[in-house]
Amino acid sequence: MASDDSLHHQNHHHNHTLNGLHSPKEEEGAKGGEEPNNNKRFKLSSKLITPEEIQSEFSHHDPAVARINNGSFGCCPQSVIAAQRRWQLHYYRQPDHFFLNCLKPAILRSRTLVASLINAPSADDISLVDNATTAAAIVLQHAAWSFHEGRSRPGDAAVMLHYAYGAVKKSVHAYIARAGARVVEVALPFPVHSPADIVAEFRRALDLARDGGARKVRLAVIDHVTSMPAVVIPVKELVKICREEGVDQVFVDAAHGIGCVDVDVQDIGADFYASNLHKWFFCPPAVAFLYCRRRPSSQGDDLHHPVVSHEYGNGLAIESAWIGTRDYSPQLVVPEVMEFLARFDGGIDGIKRRNHEAVVEMGRMLANAWGTHLGCPPEMCGSMIMVGLPACLGIEGEDDALRLRTHLRDEFGVEVPIYFRPPKEGEVGVVTGYARISYQVYNKVEDYHKFRDVISRFVSDGFTCALLSG
Ligand SMILES: Cc1ncc(COP(=O)(O)O)c(C=O)c1O
Repeated sequence: MASDDSLHHQNHHHNHTLNGLHSPKEEEGAKGGEEPNNNKRFKLSSKLITPEEIQSEFSHHDPAVARINNGSFGCCPQSVIAAQRRWQLHYYRQPDHFFLNCLKPAILRSRTLVASLINAPSADDISLVDNATTAAAIVLQHAAWSFHEGRSRPGDAAVMLHYAYGAVKKSVHAYIARAGARVVEVALPFPVHSPADIVAEFRRALDLARDGGARKVRLAVIDHVTSMPAVVIPVKELVKICREEGVDQVFVDAAHGIGCVDVDVQDIGADFYASNLHKWFFCPPAVAFLYCRRRPSSQGDDLHHPVVSHEYGNGLAIESAWIGTRDYSPQLVVPEVMEFLARFDGGIDGIKRRNHEAVVEMGRMLANAWGTHLGCPPEMCGSMIMVGLPACLGIEGEDDALRLRTHLRDEFGVEVPIYFRPPKEGEVGVVTGYARISYQVYNKVEDYHKFRDVISRFVSDGFTCALLSG
């Protein structure tokens, strides 16, 4: 197993300049502007971040907790929190100046950087919104209007994965099932052995949704990385199938996308692609981007933020940049996140690759220690992986999974989500619980050892989840 050192001492000296990533507006502002990041040039030092500096960037994390759950709420380093604070103070100093002179160009700077990171044609294709939930609402509201306005017929279908995120599933029902859509879920196997398993199930669900060609499929909602259980979905292939089968529009819910898996929105080819920036991209909560592929003008510019404000009708990106008085600071610190990333060997790609390698290694170490297995092959995971928990823990339902998670947090200082996987007909003594472990730059091998040892002690003490109920 790797030592802490082998996981953290991976940076080598480099000389890295992020040329071409600042917008013309930034050049102008830099001359005498007072905005917090106006004079930044992304001229990066050749000195890479050290393990001690990484720990200092995350020194606000509770040292008593083995935080192996970056997937739920992400993390934000001190340097970015400081940049956010500067923006907030900039607002407090002279709100009118901030709102009327500074906000729009600063948001444009962030959109420009995001566009270049994900290979979007331009910043015009990128809107910044609060989170993936809001991005989903924008797309689903748009799909619902096609039913309300008669472009879709009652009974036309929407397809989504069975493992779609709970809140997004509720949105699908609230917006489009209510408007008349028939919702078809793609049943996914778990544990999963290959992307082909997912492709086969997706084709089956599309056939069902199309009802032998009698019905149109108006929208497919496809996760890039499912949340629970965490599995990387072959999105590019599924989008291609949607195109071949005449699905109207495809929305990729990539809440875990940027910083966790490779994102090239033109290569993936979906109509909409949304990713949080606060999960794996080190932004403060809460900010996400929504990429919208350009559409023929006949389809109109009919995407709107669900919160209507002054900019209504001026395009989604502009609407989203002013949805009333609020704290926009999480959207403004993308330049400082870029600086943070550039201190790591290989930037965000290097971080992503090392996180992936480390989480697979930690997953294997845990599965070996407990005599269990991983929930998917390493090539189907990003920076999170599912690890089977010993069957003798007696995880018999979602309540047990939640109680076990709470017990681990409250009594042992381990933060990790637990997934309940019901046994199939006739299965006895099988693994019914999986831990979703994450790996992010601040993690240490000791975090995973702590978790391993708590579970191993549960096994030797004869602990079962039945002890937690009641
Ligand atoms: C697949 C997926 N979609 C949507 C979300 C919602 O993200 P947020 O709570 O930031 O809106 C999550 C959060 O974990 C997720 O995993």
